[in-house]
Amino acid sequence: MEKGKIKEIIEQLTLKEKAGLCSGRSFWHTKEVARLGIPSMMVADGPHGLRKQASKSDMLGINKSIVATCFPTGVGIAASFDRAVAKRLGEALGDEALDENLGVVLGPAINIKRSPLCGRNFEYMSEDPYLAGEMSAEYVNGVQSRGVGVSVKHFAVNSQEKFRMSISAEVDERTLREIYFPAFENTVKKAKPWTVMCAYNKINGEYCSENKWLLTDVLRKEWGFNGFVVSDWGAVNDRVKGVAAGLELEMPGTGGRNDRKIVEAVEAGKLDEKILDKACERVLGVVFDSIEKKQSAPKYDREKEHLLARTLARETMVLLKNEGNILPLKKDKKYAFIGAFAKTPRYQGGGSSHINSYKVVGAWDAATDIQKEYARGYQDGITEDQKLISEAVETAKNADIAIVFAGLPEVYESEGFDRRHMNMPKSHLDLIEAVSKVNPNTVVVLHNGSPVEMPWIKDVKAVLEAYLGGEAVGEATYDILFGDVNPSGKLAETFPIYLNDVASSEYYPGFTKTVEYREGLYVGYRYFDKKKKKVLFPFGYGLSYTDFEYSDIKMDKQSLKDPYELRVSFKIKNTGEREGKEICQLYVKDIISTVYRPEKELKGFEKISLKAGEEKEVEIKLDKRSFAFYNTITHNWEVESGEYEILVGASSADIRLSTKIEIEGDAKEMSDDKMLFPSYYSGDVEDVKDEEFSALIGRALSDREFPEGYKFTVNNNLYDARHTKWGRRIAKLAMLATKGKDDLGDPEIMAQIALQTPMEAMCNFSKGVLSEKMLYSLLDLLNGDRPTRAFWKLIGGVFKIPYYMRKAKKHDL
Ligand code: BGC
Repeated sequence: MEKGKIKEIIEQLTLKEKAGLCSGRSFWHTKEVARLGIPSMMVADGPHGLRKQASKSDMLGINKSIVATCFPTGVGIAASFDRAVAKRLGEALGDEALDENLGVVLGPAINIKRSPLCGRNFEYMSEDPYLAGEMSAEYVNGVQSRGVGVSVKHFAVNSQEKFRMSISAEVDERTLREIYFPAFENTVKKAKPWTVMCAYNKINGEYCSENKWLLTDVLRKEWGFNGFVVSDWGAVNDRVKGVAAGLELEMPGTGGRNDRKIVEAVEAGKLDEKILDKACERVLGVVFDSIEKKQSAPKYDREKEHLLARTLARETMVLLKNEGNILPLKKDKKYAFIGAFAKTPRYQGGGSSHINSYKVVGAWDAATDIQKEYARGYQDGITEDQKLISEAVETAKNADIAIVFAGLPEVYESEGFDRRHMNMPKSHLDLIEAVSKVNPNTVVVLHNGSPVEMPWIKDVKAVLEAYLGGEAVGEATYDILFGDVNPSGKLAETFPIYLNDVASSEYYPGFTKTVEYREGLYVGYRYFDKKKKKVLFPFGYGLSYTDFEYSDIKMDKQSLKDPYELRVSFKIKNTGEREGKEICQLYVKDIISTVYRPEKELKGFEKISLKAGEEKEVEIKLDKRSFAFYNTITHNWEVESGEYEILVGASSADIRLSTKIEIEGDAKEMSDDKMLFPSYYSGDVEDVKDEEFSALIGRALSDREFPEGYKFTVNNNLYDARHTKWGRRIAKLAMLATKGKDDLGDPEIMAQIALQTPMEAMCNFSKGVLSEKMLYSLLDLLNGDRPTRAFWKLIGGVFKIPYYMRKAKKHDL
């Protein structure tokens, strides 16, 4: 709808209606204003399938959603390095969303993988911002081509689950700009997403949901974002401050609690009504677009989409090892399929992205044309079962080839908590060890959403990283193992040998109040490269059943200046005997620089399909951003003069071609601070001292923990208060309340989530059930302020809960 018309509608709204439009009617719907023809719009998760909850709602995938197609998760989509795969996924989601009458799909999720431990790494794309940004932009183009919006999430620096609703990510400006922002920036600039979802956490002490610099100055003014910002579910702290900062829509609704605060602020002259009008304009722009731009789609065909899930999954798998070319497997041999994942694969992650999948096919069921036997190998992946291992050993002995399906069970990685280590469960490790001892032809298929340590790697012949590849993961695994398809994925993240090898390992996941990003720019390969440290598998690595030869690198210029546009071309030839796809990667290296820089950075990639013997010329275009760094003196992207190397290769550690170019840069004033922060020049960032990190962020370090005797506020959670008498008791109650309730997911996880939710957010989520009076009584109790009075007030509130519950239900239609 034209802006003028939307403005006319806004003029007719009452103040209360305006405030109302800035929060949800329910968990998934915006509000309607029937008299002015404003409809309600429904949104649903994302990112790799639809989680539309038609009845009971929640944000952790607890209550059932409608049946939908589960596509490969983000980690695999990125590993395809194929823009067409991301786009096709987006289109499919868009079609399904049309069929389900949804206005916005909550995805893609593109936070940077700072540590292999983040519980949502399976959903996120990469450790590299360029790759994440390219894939994300295509995904968005795909969804939005159907006239359905997206919500690019979680903006920004939400790279851990621990204390995600309260922690402050302490990050220097250059690292924000060069590592944690570019994927969002690229998506906003290239694909114009309808909405962006702000993250739960704080950045440098300020909640993302009320961070004007983030939501208005950077997102809108610099990048030109013109949709609306929606809060992550329950991410609002100070609603009025949020509106002023550029957070248009609060989700879910708070039963009117925060709407009232907006109204009061406008009436008291604390919030300019024009800002509220603008917020309504942005929300309504998307709401009307979701009706007017909606494409007509053919009836959603689940069988066809399942086939698509299979096709996409084939692109996402990464062949990590193939000794003696044991793969592809021949169909006339005897096989042992070992491990419960062979029949019931782990194909998606836990939390808000959990799909009620149409149908799930394991590799066992997909492999109908071979001679095979099955042994379960492990129970649930946690409890050790020697009997199952012994059975597996017997099955393996009788087979020519043993295929062990292993990885991480769901309780190991999910939204809501981070992993504590990078190990696979002992039952899986013991199984691989026992099977590989009796069968020299052991192949391992891995189902996991993020890297694992592989102490067994030398004992097995081949490893296929199948990731959490969606509902057709088993069929795609079969296609690759038996050679119907040539594997073509490459790692979108480094696989370190040990967790301790990772630059952030000393700092992750931080303290109670803060997490310090002391490693700065040195995330993933940027660190391992700089330190020349050995890894298990490098970023960009992946094998094929054929070989590729790179040659003939050329540039269209021999020197470069503003506007820094360069075309690099080279030839790639399939020298093997079968058709295959190669992901060619282009990295740029600033040979000598004044500012500190990573060794090299990914600035281009292409996935090329080649028949046996075929050769093609590949062209990659570079621009200013390919050479620039973020100058913290001028607050601008600038290029430093000097010689740069253009490196083309098959992975970050396998550079096949290189050439050099002289560049006339535009950076004049640069900080050459080798004295002030030497670690960042050498890359020795594993143990950055306080003074150095403080110099890097340009201020004193923030408190990491709450000091003793600290008075709790609405921003604290029950975990913070766990040392107090009442905190301990209430925390115990929360644990008890979730115990034995398996329908809530893993009870320990649920209890942890309950303990980590700030009290303000609890109050908002409860839609009035935990009233403000109760909230403040709870605080008084925890702080020991007139505890008897607070206790009885709280109890008084508890008696009113049934009444408020009935009221709250009305909001959840
Ligand atoms: C997640 C979001 C999700 C939302 C709604 C939140 O807990 O962080 O990614 O879109 O819930 O389910």
